[in-house]
Amino acid sequence: MSKSKLTQSVHVGSKGDSLYGGLVNPIYPSSAYDYDAEVRYPRYFNTPNQKAVVEKIAALENTEDGLLFGSGMAAIMTSIFAMVRHGDHILFQDDLYGGTHHAAITELKRYGIDHSMVNVFDLEKFEAAIKPNTKVIYIETPSNPLLKITDIRGVARIAKKHKIITIIDNTFASPVNQNPISLGIDIVTHSGTKYIGGHSDICCGVAVGSKKLIEKVKASAMHFGGSTDAQTAYLVERSLKTIVLRVQQQNKNALALAKYLEKEPKVSAVYYPGLKSNPGFAIAKKQMPGGFGGMLSFEIKGDTEKFLKRLKIIRKAISLGGVESTITQPVKTSHAKMSPAERKAAGISDKLLRFSVGIEDVKDLINDIKQAL
Ligand SMILES: Cc1ncc(COP(=O)(O)O)c(C=O)c1O
Repeated sequence: MSKSKLTQSVHVGSKGDSLYGGLVNPIYPSSAYDYDAEVRYPRYFNTPNQKAVVEKIAALENTEDGLLFGSGMAAIMTSIFAMVRHGDHILFQDDLYGGTHHAAITELKRYGIDHSMVNVFDLEKFEAAIKPNTKVIYIETPSNPLLKITDIRGVARIAKKHKIITIIDNTFASPVNQNPISLGIDIVTHSGTKYIGGHSDICCGVAVGSKKLIEKVKASAMHFGGSTDAQTAYLVERSLKTIVLRVQQQNKNALALAKYLEKEPKVSAVYYPGLKSNPGFAIAKKQMPGGFGGMLSFEIKGDTEKFLKRLKIIRKAISLGGVESTITQPVKTSHAKMSPAERKAAGISDKLLRFSVGIEDVKDLINDIKQAL
């Protein structure tokens, strides 16, 4: 199979219908299978539609195997719990999606798992936070919502030195722009609800990595039960056939919008790793060969609520990664569960707007912002 992502996204795992010669994979809705050949069951993560999706994503992420979950959080928490036990410690970078942050601070302690959240931009300090019982390092880049860039290779090097498993949330980059396994990371997770689904109509998650590690995650996943059904899996497979085209357009639009917003006098701050002025630009350029992604954040000088009401094309909505442009206020949505002090420490102001750039004509998007400002 070609290594080109354009070709992989269309063909890997999409074998078609051997009974009638149809081009696309049939939907196999069975939850009961004859068990003599192989014990297949949706919660065992091995039904044909589930397998088709993970084959495609594993190929796009340059790795061997994976699991399709019912949500991004199921993929993240199952991967984490599969790697630790009572008494272990997890080192998280401190800039994280609010849901992951909240899950870490509420769930882990109850199971006797210690954790630290540490700034990852000074790698020496990050390494110094490793404890003798640290079993997992967890990072997210670009981060939600400030698009901060973590040096993936640097973190992977430290983790290998200390024999620690690394997990990365690659949701914002998508498999098109960044492939952390090629940079030394062990397990890649995605909220498939975002770019992988891409049409704001699917909730799913994936974890991919080596066969050996995925077997370990699967052993826990079968207990936690965060699997998904054949219909959803089929929709995900269908969406993946256009992921490269969608994300390429989103990359192009987001870069043009970031450049416009940076020059716009009514805008006070822009966060986008593709801007030369962004502190993460040099590292992002190296580790995101496909592009800088479709997500950016910004703040305006005027009234945020009035601005949001005046937008005509860009929709005020939670979530991200769809073909339609959406905008959200992290203070009210993704990071609402953080305390004001935690948000302040993370640099997430009440005025921050997180923009998921869609595939529309960028001129229309710029004009929409201009008239709303
Ligand atoms: C970066 C990131 N990771 C993980 C998640 C969780 O994904 P899901 O909502 O599919 O569980 C989200 C959701 O917004 C996210 O933005």
